[in-house]
Amino acid sequence: MAQAFDVVVIGAGPGGYIAAIRSAQLGFKTACIEGWKNPKGEAALGGTCLNVGCIPSKALLASSEEYEKANHHLDAHGIVVSGVKIDIGKMQARKESIVGKMTKGIEYLYKKNKVAWLQGFGKFLSGGDTYAIEVANGSAKETIQAKYVIVATGSKARQLPNAAVDNELICDNEGALAFPSVPKRLGVIGAGVIGLELGSVWRRLGSEVTVLEALPAFLGACDEAIAKEAWKVLTKQGLAIRLGVKIDKVTTRKNAVVVDYTDDKGLAQKLECDRLVVSVGRVPNTDGLGVAAVGLKVDNRGFIEVDDHCRTNLPNVYAIGDVVRGPMLAHKAEDEGVMVAEIIAGQKPHIDYDCIPWIIYTSPEIAWVGKSEQQAKAEGIAVRTGQAPFSINGRALGINEPAGFVKIVADAATDRVLGVHVIHARASDIIQEGVTTMEFAGASEDIARIVHGHPTLGEVVKEAALQLDKRALNM
Ligand code: FAD
Ligand code: NAI
Repeated sequence: MAQAFDVVVIGAGPGGYIAAIRSAQLGFKTACIEGWKNPKGEAALGGTCLNVGCIPSKALLASSEEYEKANHHLDAHGIVVSGVKIDIGKMQARKESIVGKMTKGIEYLYKKNKVAWLQGFGKFLSGGDTYAIEVANGSAKETIQAKYVIVATGSKARQLPNAAVDNELICDNEGALAFPSVPKRLGVIGAGVIGLELGSVWRRLGSEVTVLEALPAFLGACDEAIAKEAWKVLTKQGLAIRLGVKIDKVTTRKNAVVVDYTDDKGLAQKLECDRLVVSVGRVPNTDGLGVAAVGLKVDNRGFIEVDDHCRTNLPNVYAIGDVVRGPMLAHKAEDEGVMVAEIIAGQKPHIDYDCIPWIIYTSPEIAWVGKSEQQAKAEGIAVRTGQAPFSINGRALGINEPAGFVKIVADAATDRVLGVHVIHARASDIIQEGVTTMEFAGASEDIARIVHGHPTLGEVVKEAALQLDKRALNM
């Protein structure tokens, strides 16, 4: 007799594993189908985020930042270091150990919450009152029954037709996180989040990095003031970024890759590099999921169609995370997972999609929530803006991180905060004040009147709010 569950989650990335845990907490008999294998061939939970995304990239980021600090930034503190070296093997082993701890942590959470992990690949076979789903693990196949299904199958790197990824010379995120040595010349196609984060990691470790971007504008999704500052800082650090290019041909040689491209002036150019990272966006994973067998609607870009509450066109089938519309971010996937489990339990949760923070982990970090000044104006909203630099902040000077600023965009008529934008070494932590303010529909005056601890970096958020009202106190 087929195993039957109340809730079956397909995929155990941050969307799926959180959805499974929350479903089990709410009293549902829950299973999660996941067939990811790590490089050692072991089954692993955690999806892209834990295995080849957020967690390993931030581990490498930290190692490369420590290396750069030891080489260039300790002198300001009067600390003299010499003979700094990096052991890339050890750095990669540290990253793997963090990934291992985190993915094993989910196994523990599944046991604790009584979520059944069904190892294998999930595929819809048929629908009706309950859904029949096949779980295939190699040649072993099992069919299970589910009353509710949550699809959380995530995304994979988009490939360019003329640059086949082998994860040796031409790499996607998986290869780019696992280089065994520092490439002397690193090429990157796509100046998006992965290109800038991983480009920065390998630059800090010693690569000469050239980033080729198709769009004529740099970081088009950011507020223009932030994008301009990021351009200034990142290019000064040594990232060579070419905008408005067209990739014509990618050729691999024995130990090198040659990219033929047309530059923004229409001239033919060549980039020769030792490794190439292709980071041109990600595409949703629905291959082999059996969407046609049950009539699950997918849009023309391959995303499963959902409403604001992640309901698909099928009764009792929900989809969350990277496989549906919206930003491809782990925290968005997680919150959708919680929302869907609670909807299944008859609760009325809700996500405010205008309040999802973005963080790009370059140094300095770039973080924002809500609308940029340009976006608000394009939507016909009159705004007031306030900006304050970290160079006036004692804590920022104390930690030797005076670069960057906070910008607040508020509705000119109501003062409601519409967007907060930060560029600073610790922007990822600072942005949460903006998110909380916006979730509570706060005004810039609220930020200006809230007591901020001293000396903290958060004082710059308050100063930006004061500046918005032309009453800055420290500048
Ligand atoms: P995924 O994490 O992609 O997980 C989907 C899972 O489903 C996978 O484990 C897959 O094996 C499984 N699966 C697919 N199909 C099936 C099937 N048919 N049957 C069974 N299992 C299946 N986001 C952030 O917020 N912050 C960051 O710092 C960040 N850094 C990133 C760095 C990199 C290099 C990359 C590539 C991404 C990064 N992201 C980051 C994005 C983040 O990883 C994704 O948004 C997030 O993982 C999406 O979660 P998900 O659960 O929707 O899907
Ligand atoms: P991206 O969408 O951020 O950037 C892709 C870039 O490639 C764009 O600037 C695009 O214009 C450019 N591009 C597309 N086709 C091109 C071509 N043919 N030639 C040259 N340039 C081209 O995608 P990326 O960096 O691959 O990351 C995917 C997603 O993963 C991100 O959008 C984000 O959602 C998630 N992510 C999040 C992180 C975070 O939260 N810190 C870190 C890394 C990834």
